[in-house]
Parts: sequence; C-alpha cells; structure tokens
Amino acid sequence: MAERRYRVGVVGTSWWADLEHLPGLRARTDVELAALCGRNPERLGALAAKYGIPRTFTDWRELVAAGGLDAVVLATPNALHREQALAAIDAGLHVICEKPLALDLRQAREMAARADAAGRKTLTFFTHRAVGAAAHVKRLVDAGFLGRPLHATATYFTASHLKEDKPLAWRMQRAVSGTGVLGDIGSHLVDLVRWWLGDLARVAAMWQTVTRERAGGVADADESCAFLAELASGAQAVFQASKLVAGRGNHQRVELHGTKASLVYEADPGFDPTWEGRVLAGTPARAGLEPVPLPQDLAARLAGVDERSGRAEAYRRLTDPFFAAIARGGPVSPDFRDGAAVQAVLDAVARAAEERRWVDVEA
Ligand SMILES: NC(=O)c1ccc[n+]([C@@H]2O[C@H](COP(=O)([O-])OP(=O)(O)OC[C@H]3O[C@@H](n4cnc5c(N)ncnc54)[C@H](OP(=O)(O)O)[C@@H]3O)[C@@H](O)[C@H]2O)c1
Repeated sequence: MAERRYRVGVVGTSWWADLEHLPGLRARTDVELAALCGRNPERLGALAAKYGIPRTFTDWRELVAAGGLDAVVLATPNALHREQALAAIDAGLHVICEKPLALDLRQAREMAARADAAGRKTLTFFTHRAVGAAAHVKRLVDAGFLGRPLHATATYFTASHLKEDKPLAWRMQRAVSGTGVLGDIGSHLVDLVRWWLGDLARVAAMWQTVTRERAGGVADADESCAFLAELASGAQAVFQASKLVAGRGNHQRVELHGTKASLVYEADPGFDPTWEGRVLAGTPARAGLEPVPLPQDLAARLAGVDERSGRAEAYRRLTDPFFAAIARGGPVSPDFRDGAAVQAVLDAVARAAEERRWVDVEA
C-alpha cells in the first residue's frame, strides 16, 4: 500500500522556517509541503520556489480557511501562537507550534484543552529533545542509571545580546514575547529537565536586562535569568539561561546527579553539525567523568553529515511521533500539554523574579 502523505502548511517565512521546518518537512517522505504563509511577498515567493510549494498566502487566516491541509506548522512570534493554533484546531487541523507555546499559562492551557476536545494531535517544538545525547540521557534515566535523582544544574548560554548594536526585536519586548531569554532558550532547559526528572514544584528566580536602549526602542525582556527549583520528586535544580556569555554559540550543559551516578549532557545544537551532543557519566567509585557512546540509532545517520542533514535527521526524530499519532492515534510528546507545563514554570519564574520570592508552579 502506498504511504499516506500528509498535506502540511507552514506559517512563517523567517530564517528559522528556512533552516528548520521547511527542509525538515521536505526530507519526510510522508509529507507534502502544500502551502506557505508569509507577510513579505518576495520572501514568500522565493521560499515557495525553493521548496516547490504550490499554494502561498500573505494572511494566515486565508491559509487556514482555504482547506486542503491535514496539519499546520506555526513558526511565528509567540504572541500569535494562541490565535493561530485555536483557528487551526477549529478548522480540523493537527498543529505543530513553536516554543514557548504561548504568552502565559492561561493561553497555553486553552490551546491544549481545545486540541484535546477536538481530538487533534499537537507537538510543541522543543527541538533539543532530538539531540542524540538528550534522547540517550532520557533512556539512561528511565532505566534507573542515576539511582534516586538528587540534584541538577542546567545552563544554556549564547553571546547574541552582547552586541550593543543589535536592534530591538519582538523577543526583547515582553508584551509580544511573554518573557525574554527565559522563554526563548530557558524553555528548552525546563523541557529537558522536566522530561528527564519530572515536574518542577516551586522556584526562586532573578533576571536582568543589561542593554535597555536598542536601535528601534526600549527592551524590557530579560537577557539572562537564573533560578532555583524544587522538583515534585524532592530533587533540587539550578538553572541559568543567558544571551550574555562571550564565547558561547548555542551551548547547553545539564548535569544530573543521583545516588548511583551522575550524567552530563552537553550540546551546541546548530554549531555541532551532527546534532549528536555528548553524554558523560560518573560513579561514586572514582573521580572523573567518562564519555558514554551513543547507541547507533541515536548517532547521526551519516558520518560527516553536513549541517542540514544532521538537522533533518533530528527533525525526523522529533516529528515522527506526531505523524504516527495522526496515522494510528496515541499520545505525542512533547504535546501542547507539555508545552503548557513548561509555560507554568515560565510564569512562576517570571513572578518569582518580579516579586523576589519563592513561587509555586501551578500544577
Ligand atoms: N525551537 C527552536 O529551537 C526555535 C528556534 C528559533 C525560533 N523558534 C521559535 O519560532 C518562532 C518564530 O521565531 P522567528 O525567529 O522565526 O521569528 P521571526 O524572525 O520574527 O519570524 C517570524 C515569522 O512570522 C511572521 N509574522 C510576524 N508577525 C506576523 C503577523 N502579524 N502575521 C503573520 N505573520 C507574521 C514573520 O513575517 P515577517 O518576516 O513579515 O515579519 C516571519 O515570517 C518563535 O516562537 C520562536 O521562539 C524556535
């Protein structure tokens, strides 16, 4: 029997759509790139030609209303996610939505509830679950490698906001981003730690905005954020996300410490062309960490892959459960419920930073 092909529309024509979603979807044999929406007609036309997409729209509402799609990818600024996702679900579409899922928990929960009620499949696009090392840490933790988890440290560093001439962008304005670095890159850390160790229960936080005057206006969103977290399991964690770290490209490092062993996850997604990352492990018996080889199925598909093919393989891993769930039912992880659970942490961290106190994460 011929493989079913899902007709997918993409909303957003930015660098990110061109780097991640469009090549990733084109590489899937079960997807037909059927429609594309962007506000800039020249850019829209150029990307439609590059990826062979037959139908184009400059208004996302028209793309949704036009029909003929099974699923839509929302690669648009955070402030648009709620309205676009609800409209797509109401039109019967399955939805992949970028992270952070929404501006706040209320919006995120509304999106998840609407999808559940309509029986639509969803995926919150937490890219870094598809890094080989991240997926291997998940397997090791689930197999009991750590023993009882005791504590974790999680950092995500880039240098992008050290450029004082970087102009104002929506990510720097809380009204349209929700939060700054916290939602943009901290959300990935929260998702990974929650995926590996379970829900976060309460947080204490601080954040800072170093360059407020930018070309184009005033930035009010955090450029670095640090917080302590107590997990529902009783384990403790320290998080720091910052775009003010000279020498860092897109660097993530998470240490997990348990009664039997430690695990270290390290990756520079996008800078490491394989998207494999590294896993290191330590035991109480000796000082020092040893590299843990990745199993074959989590290593990059090709040795010496170019940047795009490592990325496309990671894209396949992340989106496989979504398309499988459309075909055969069953859950997707991370879905909108997971996106909302991460959003609950982001809201609690923002409140903790503003009010300088411990805040419970809404369950
Ligand atoms: N998962 C990851 O690792 C990852 C990485 C990067 C980004 N993201 C997420 O992806 C999303 C988009 O980020 P980005 O960097 O691509 O943002 P961006 O560069 O601002 O591009 C967003 C796209 O949405 C379009 N858009 C903006 N306002 C619109 C409106 N009112 N109606 C219709 N389209 C509109 C933009 O069109 P114009 O070009 O006309 O402005 C552009 O095509 C964000 O949620 C971000 O957090 C995730």
